[in-house]
Amino acid sequence: MRSKIVAGNWKMNKNLEETEALLAELAAKLPDTKAEVMVAPTYVNLGAAVRNLETSRIEVIAQNMHFAESGAYTGEISADMLLNIGVDTCIIGHSERRAYFGETDEILAKKVKTALGKGIRVMFCFGEELEDRKSGNHFNVVESQLKNALFSLENSDWSKIILAYEPVWAIGTGETASPEQAQEMHAFIRKTISEAFDSSIASNVSILYGGSVKPGNAEEIFSKPDVDGGLIGGASLVSDDFVAIINAI
Ligand code: G3P
Repeated sequence: MRSKIVAGNWKMNKNLEETEALLAELAAKLPDTKAEVMVAPTYVNLGAAVRNLETSRIEVIAQNMHFAESGAYTGEISADMLLNIGVDTCIIGHSERRAYFGETDEILAKKVKTALGKGIRVMFCFGEELEDRKSGNHFNVVESQLKNALFSLENSDWSKIILAYEPVWAIGTGETASPEQAQEMHAFIRKTISEAFDSSIASNVSILYGGSVKPGNAEEIFSKPDVDGGLIGGASLVSDDFVAIINAI
């Protein structure tokens, strides 16, 4: 049975004091839920977040990592550095990494390989641009992103993979994909994985939706059979909103 997951991607927000305050609110307000709950603070606050949540079931995850073991990569963070502070799940391939930092499918495939090799669970992000959808090319784009980064995996790797479909046109825009659009693409993703690997892997992989998920739309999106939760941006920075979204699953 695949997991239900609600993860908050805090992006480049919250200093140390603000991070600790929000984590304290979330820990205090966390509802009794069947879902896995995760938060992704910024790098500089990851260690403090792990310590602050030691007695909470909220998991601290990273927003990114480099594919190299170590070395001359100014500003980067390695898999071992994440593990060393108690972080063993990492977002890889977020559209903002692809758009602003030139992360290609090839680079992302290396990051996925490194993460899995270190035993780090990967939350792999992908999704089409607005022009892809307008031109009806969105399925091809998503299939290509999955194939180029994940289709060299072994079957056994998939227990450490979480997928996050984030249509770029819905991220931070308030323009959410409709529940029907989300379900259509999630079903396509699951079918694509089933054909490339097997039906058991496809059935067991959690596929999250991300892109302007809010308390007012979460329940309908999460009600769809192939939507297993959400990767939340803006709404994860406000404890009441993030808790409302957790309650929606
Ligand atoms: O990674 C999640 C993020 O890209 C979605 O952002 O603000 O549209 O929920 P937002």
